[in-house]
Amino acid sequence: MCGIVGYIGDKNCVPILIDGLKRLEYRGYDSAGIGIVRENDAIVVKNKGKVSLLEEKLVEQNLNSNLGIGHTRWATHGIPNEQNAHPHTNSKNNLFIIHNGIIENFQVLKNALIKLGYTFESDTDSEVFAHLIDSFLNKGYNLSKSVQMALIEVDGTYGLAVIYTLEPDKIIVARKGSPLVIGLGEGENFIASDVSAILAHTKQVIYLDDGEFAEVSINNFAVKTIEDETIEKEIHEINMSLDEIDKSGFNHFMLKEIMEQPESVRNSMRGRLQAESGSAKLGGLTDVVDRLINSKRIIISACGTSWHAALVGEYMLEQYARIPVEVEYASEFRYRSPIISSHDSFLVISQSGETADTLAALREAKNKGALALGICNVVGSTIARESMAGVYIHAGPEIGVASTKAFTSQLVVLALITLLISKRKGISKTKAVELATELNAIPKKIEQILNLNEGIERLAKDFQNAQNFLYLGRGYNFPVALEGALKLKEISYIHAEGYPAAEMKHGPIALIDENMPVVFIAPKDSTYGKVINNIQEVKARGGRIIAIADDADGEIDEIVDYTIKVPRTIEMLTPILTSIPLQLLAYHIAVKKGLNVDQPRNLAKSVTVE
Ligand code: G6P
Repeated sequence: MCGIVGYIGDKNCVPILIDGLKRLEYRGYDSAGIGIVRENDAIVVKNKGKVSLLEEKLVEQNLNSNLGIGHTRWATHGIPNEQNAHPHTNSKNNLFIIHNGIIENFQVLKNALIKLGYTFESDTDSEVFAHLIDSFLNKGYNLSKSVQMALIEVDGTYGLAVIYTLEPDKIIVARKGSPLVIGLGEGENFIASDVSAILAHTKQVIYLDDGEFAEVSINNFAVKTIEDETIEKEIHEINMSLDEIDKSGFNHFMLKEIMEQPESVRNSMRGRLQAESGSAKLGGLTDVVDRLINSKRIIISACGTSWHAALVGEYMLEQYARIPVEVEYASEFRYRSPIISSHDSFLVISQSGETADTLAALREAKNKGALALGICNVVGSTIARESMAGVYIHAGPEIGVASTKAFTSQLVVLALITLLISKRKGISKTKAVELATELNAIPKKIEQILNLNEGIERLAKDFQNAQNFLYLGRGYNFPVALEGALKLKEISYIHAEGYPAAEMKHGPIALIDENMPVVFIAPKDSTYGKVINNIQEVKARGGRIIAIADDADGEIDEIVDYTIKVPRTIEMLTPILTSIPLQLLAYHIAVKKGLNVDQPRNLAKSVTVE
């Protein structure tokens, strides 16, 4: 949420900042700005809207500088406009800050600064940083010390970068709750909220941890705690290529990521699944597997799409591993005095590994003595680093705001964990081999589903003007109904609800008429017969029905208006297949409506504020 990038070196920073901001736009895109420092001169250029508009403005100005910071915003305090865009400056216009996060005591600090004579230009909480740091500079402290003293006064979260015309040899950065990396180059250094912004220039990075701040100069960096202790940091090598964060000829990242799923899912299993022996090896869990297996309870916590994956995980683990599982929204878990102990395992799922609520839930569970585990996509992310153990899904970078390939890879990893535990708990060899063999066959089956793309696009035409949608499923496919509805509302702005199919009778059935499209997720699993009854109930009330069904199911075509057929697999793995046509349906409807599917309004890819 919000993107930060900065450069210090001997090149012109403006194109580097713009390129970085474009790569970060998935984190927020309602306004953008850069601040540059050159020969005691400081210039800020900001704009409401996308980075491309800022770029147009910058072309006219033809600026050149070796030191600068840039920001793309996702508004929290103050509407998206030029004034509220970052960087924010002090009144002398010689100090620039960019900030990601929320200053919780900003009103108190703002009032105090106003009393001291400071005037504020924006409605943001972030501007407090500019004046607060300025107040310490005025007392004669240098930039580094002034930032440090300001941070002591601030409650809340921040990824912060600061530059100052009177000390033009450095960028100061600090982190608490919002990610920040330092990229190391030759005769140049970078700072960013995530590596995608600087990957074109360096693969050597340092991840700041909470409570740390750093002084970054052309040839050096020094990391300290806010309490002034020097810290030795490890340099990490990024194992990701630039191609992975490009659209590779697709119109949208979302479509590219949907189409990548045979490969991303294969990558999630690679080296982990042994189909012939029916077993799974997960290196990240080796040290904790005994404790995990002996847990009295597994709590899975997450937000958004990852929460839907957690619900599927609950079905998987309870059916096969026979350990009680609870699924909790991370945002609820953290504020309700949860009862949790060292007998519990607490598993968080997060694509980004940075979601503020999920991270807070993980920390809470860890503090209470639970075995705190993480399933993440982004390598080196905060959740990945703070979990006691975990599994990467290896889906590759996901840029489209609506999560697609991360979801299917999360399901694969949950299936692998289920296999690992249930094998150790003694499920039959036949069952284990069946499960592993089916999992192994999933990528090929996804390829078959992706061949339906054109048909789904035609179907989307018939539904692009719908005002509402209902998604219904049972058992393993109830979470898929939730996920299908979420995908549609996220990117097409059509109101959509997901429901357990049988629960429809207790309310949503009142909504059904000929204008209400209803998507049934109805593979031939143990609930199939019941779902068919629910389909009949909708049909009797005139609803237009789309069914996601088994490719061997001949009967269903007679009952419903449209079918999308997916290959058969075992019940536990059906969500990996049935969710994909729903991703494509949402995608094509949104495209037909002329919407920006990669950057839907009001959303952000990585929600680092609570
Ligand atoms: C945001 C994204 C969703 C995502 C959710 C959780 O809302 O737009 O796509 O599912 O955050 O993100 P995480 O990175 O923790 O999986």
